[in-house]
Amino acid sequence: MDAMNGFFGEKVIYFDEIDSTNSEVKRQAKAGAGHGLVVIAQKQNAGRGRLGRSWSSPKGTGLWMSFLLKPDIEAENASMLTIVAAMAAQQAIESVTGLSALIKWPNDIVVNGKKICGILTEMVTEGIQIKYVVVGVGINVNTYEFPEEIKETASSLKIESGKEVSKEELFASFGQHFEKYYEKFISCKNLSLIMDEYNTNLANKGREVKIIDGDEERICTAIGINEIGELMVKNSEGHVDIVRSGEVSVRGLYGYV
Ligand code: BTN
Repeated sequence: MDAMNGFFGEKVIYFDEIDSTNSEVKRQAKAGAGHGLVVIAQKQNAGRGRLGRSWSSPKGTGLWMSFLLKPDIEAENASMLTIVAAMAAQQAIESVTGLSALIKWPNDIVVNGKKICGILTEMVTEGIQIKYVVVGVGINVNTYEFPEEIKETASSLKIESGKEVSKEELFASFGQHFEKYYEKFISCKNLSLIMDEYNTNLANKGREVKIIDGDEERICTAIGINEIGELMVKNSEGHVDIVRSGEVSVRGLYGYV
């Protein structure tokens, strides 16, 4: 199903406390929930990040939310939804706070070089068919304390803007932007209508990045994404290479970005 208008958050379920909103959306999907369901929690006790990391989600300080999508696309294209969600998060953050936000490929939103938001996309398949996709978005809104291991790289909208930011406004703005970009994505099943805007807001663009793929590390210059969301990079010999998001981590040479 690809309901187009007003599908995001047609139904929203709120929790004071939960293990992970991504896990709850999966449970809801198994119980028959539909496209566009959103789960929001005040606090996550087992918030999950990419690459098996945990996601710090202290009570009331952030927008910890996940939503259910049932797109009519092939499983191999589901990772592009992360790019769609990143665009929506970046735009929502800019329009609600007036801060300048950039995207660190593929799925982090950074403000002043610090990570403000992360996105975790998970899918459940049946053969080559997608049964459903869960997109989890964590935005450090009014967060003021971070675990030791991310203290240097993370920040919140309140820290960066110097004022309290409304989670409700961010949620509403995210939903509007997500529906707009989702429609563009679904209309051609790739990112051709989104990639120029994404690349304009790409924090890594033109910068040297270290691609960490398991034990392997290589240094290249980021160029931008292509229409399927892969990062195009130039290696030291000037050849253009492609990096797929899967399990790689991208770090700047002189900082997080
Ligand atoms: C990352 O940058 O590693 C992705 C972080 C994703 C965090 C969000 S918070 C809401 C949702 N529930 C989770 O358990 N994770 C995502």
